[in-house]
Amino acid sequence: MTARAATGGVPSGSIALPDGVVHLRHHLDETAQRDLVDQVLHAIGEAFWFQPTTPRWNRPFSVRMSNLGTLGWVSDRRGYRYQKGHPESGLPWPAMPAALLELWRQVAGHPTLPEACLVNLYRDTARMGLHQDRDEHDFSAPVVSVSLGDTAMFRLGGMERNAPTRSFPLTSGDVLVLGGPARLAFHGIDRILPGSSDLIPGGGRINLTLRRVSQPLAKIASAGS
Ligand code: SIN
Ligand code: MN
Repeated sequence: MTARAATGGVPSGSIALPDGVVHLRHHLDETAQRDLVDQVLHAIGEAFWFQPTTPRWNRPFSVRMSNLGTLGWVSDRRGYRYQKGHPESGLPWPAMPAALLELWRQVAGHPTLPEACLVNLYRDTARMGLHQDRDEHDFSAPVVSVSLGDTAMFRLGGMERNAPTRSFPLTSGDVLVLGGPARLAFHGIDRILPGSSDLIPGGGRINLTLRRVSQPLAKIASAGS
């Protein structure tokens, strides 16, 4: 199946992976990458990063996180969830830059806009274990991921945790779409290659994932009737 058929509207120039996965290499040029990093770091500032911890053991993740949009993903002793405000200050998350909404319109093939953009900051030895993105209420929308800065080794599995996996690099400017039959695919970051890019001040990698969280109103109405 071609990338276009898998996600219903992804531009050409992409490579085909399992159905529903589209890897748009170098989708953002250097200027677009720099602009996006500036906008994201400006929106987050110093105060808006937080240190997520695992629900059961309250252990810190190796990444720092923040969110943009009306909802943000957080993890702490109370579990994984989306919420409207920052876990420490309670302040609303900063708005999503227009460029991200435009990117979603280009690649998501979904009629409604994302509500959340999770921002992950990977320095040096940060990584992310194999997991599914399943805290959203609407799996009909894909997850759209943008890589900025250092190259990361991305690991992609199947629908079960013990399914075979493959790994491939995500470089700065790459966009990865997990949708359709791959919406709930297990995935993670094995490691980043420190110093492979100088895009991020202080070094490292920023990953942005755009997510639609709520169910469309039409679906809620029909479920209630
Ligand atoms: C994530 O799954 O939240 C992040 C993936 C990535 O950093 O590319
Ligand atoms: Mn994820």
